[in-house]
Amino acid sequence: MSLANKNILLGVTGGIAAYKSAELVRELVQADSRVRVVMTRAAKEFITPLTFQALSGHRVTSDEFDAAEASNGMDHIALARWADAILIAPASANTIAKLTHGNADNLLSTICLATQAPIALAPAMNKAMWANAATQDNCALLKKRGLYLFGPGAGQQACGDIGEGRMFEPHQLLLSLTNLFNTGELTGLNVLITAGPTREAIDPVRYISNRSSGRMGYALAEAARDAGATVQLISGPVALTAPENVDCIQVSTAQEMLAAVQQGIETQQIFISCAAVADYRPVTKQVEKIKKLHQDLSLSLVRNPDIVAEVTKIKNKPFVVGFAAETRELEKYALQKLNYKRLDMIAANNVVDPQLGFDSEENALEVYWIGGHSSLERDKKTKLARKLISLISERYANTNKQNNVTILKNAKDRSQNPR
Ligand code: PMT
Repeated sequence: MSLANKNILLGVTGGIAAYKSAELVRELVQADSRVRVVMTRAAKEFITPLTFQALSGHRVTSDEFDAAEASNGMDHIALARWADAILIAPASANTIAKLTHGNADNLLSTICLATQAPIALAPAMNKAMWANAATQDNCALLKKRGLYLFGPGAGQQACGDIGEGRMFEPHQLLLSLTNLFNTGELTGLNVLITAGPTREAIDPVRYISNRSSGRMGYALAEAARDAGATVQLISGPVALTAPENVDCIQVSTAQEMLAAVQQGIETQQIFISCAAVADYRPVTKQVEKIKKLHQDLSLSLVRNPDIVAEVTKIKNKPFVVGFAAETRELEKYALQKLNYKRLDMIAANNVVDPQLGFDSEENALEVYWIGGHSSLERDKKTKLARKLISLISERYANTNKQNNVTILKNAKDRSQNPR
């Protein structure tokens, strides 16, 4: 579980607890989250935007018509899409009421209407305001709609009262936010993921490779870890840092990747083959750098092992998810690969658009399995990865249920018809 690389939009509304939000931003940044702060007009009466700007490293916005931010590509829709989660801390009774009614009369409430990210509220108000039936009903309705409530806590209040309505402390909010990303869908399972390209040496300085950055595979490793799995990541050469709490093995060639996969595969329940493995390698790696002696030069190549197909040959094979990188006829080729590689699922991406697939921040996936299909629309790879992991966990559970029914049925048949 980690908040590293998560985009957290912190909404700050009017309340004395706003001073604690400065510490919250500091802790989020320390946890390697990317933080953007949106303040309401009332919040600025309690704390200045400059404080949050200094701590988050980004300009604070509070106006839905902020021309500078819009020209930065960070208008309300962009912010709503950017966020992996929205936390409003402190959340005033007024903002809670606005969200309940779907008002969009300031930047924060507009973003909340436009986002698909989870929204969490950290209420902070006087105990009577918190106990008021209007606030209680509003919170109950928001919870029913899927918003999260972090707190409030009880104790001494700024106005001198003692009771419920205190904003959770920053460390409590950090923990609650971390738990928000932990779906638990893969708890207790081992997941092996390959990512990045492979490099096939021609001579000591040259190699055959491809444009895979590893982003998709690394995002999957983070999402699987956040879903509760024990994750092993086998990575080709990329410029990314290994995700926290993920066992990362670095390899270079397809043969090395195959050896690493074979070493770990027996104990895995799920294998996701996201690496862009070179299909061919030079027959021999020249010991010396090849000299520019001739007008033409031919390279003799030999087929590399098909790693994912090797895994599906194993007797007690895990649930296997492959990828298909195609430049045309996505569905046709994806289904062919699903079939001849004997995969349980395949995620196909169209790699013609330079903004998608290889070496890009975003992707779009068409996911196929026998008898089913799901489209994961264009989005950041981190978000897509979470959706794909969710789909994989659903299909994995389904396949396991069917297998268990078959095992039970076979056992029953055997007991009724003893040979
Ligand atoms: O790394 P990024 O920049 O984020 O880009 C992500 C990606 C585009 C690389 C990724 O989304 C993706 O599509 N990965 C698979 C790329 C690929 O090699 O596709 P393929 O259609 O050639 O291979 C089909 C499947 O067989 C894949 O699961 C692949 O991992 C596997 N394969 C291929 C060849 C081989 N020798 N061994 C394999 O296991």
